[in-house]
Amino acid sequence: MIDVVKPGQVYKSTQYDKLGGEAGVRQLTKHFYQAMNSIAEVKTIREMHAPNLSEAEDKLFMFLSGWLGGPSLYIEKFGHPRLRARHLPFIVGTKERDQWLHCMDVALSNMDIEKPMRDELMQAFFNTADFMRNKTE
Ligand code: HEM
Repeated sequence: MIDVVKPGQVYKSTQYDKLGGEAGVRQLTKHFYQAMNSIAEVKTIREMHAPNLSEAEDKLFMFLSGWLGGPSLYIEKFGHPRLRARHLPFIVGTKERDQWLHCMDVALSNMDIEKPMRDELMQAFFNTADFMRNKTE
């Protein structure tokens, strides 16, 4: 993506840039679904997904691209994400939330990023994942 910086304006790099742009965000989503596919403790959420994870991986990549400050690929293709509504067909409680976050934590541990950024991202993922909960506990 080309950024046009006007005179006197400071370009502030986004989390998308810091993760390595498109290639970095693709790596992150790949690690995320590899974790979901291989860690026994996240079986509950793995079973919610289709046997083949490639479509889910592609959609998460497109969504995260915009969410992290890069191109809004998901919105361009599918419109408003309505993320909470899209998760309503699935039961999402604290167990499911924490399994999702565990996969993301493993995925981030495979990326070459500094701890402050990793903590910042985990906090942002926690907020979004927590918002997805739809089960009374
Ligand atoms: C809180 C726990 C979560 C669970 C259990 C969960 C589960 C799921 C499941 C089962 C699907 C459908 C996948 C398929 O079609 O096979 C899905 C889709 C998706 N999830 Fe999640 N998810 C969670 C949190 C999140 C979070 C935090 C994000 C974003 C940061 C996210 C982003 C997405 C996106 C973009 C899709 C694709 C939506 C579409 O169909 O267009 N999910 N999720």
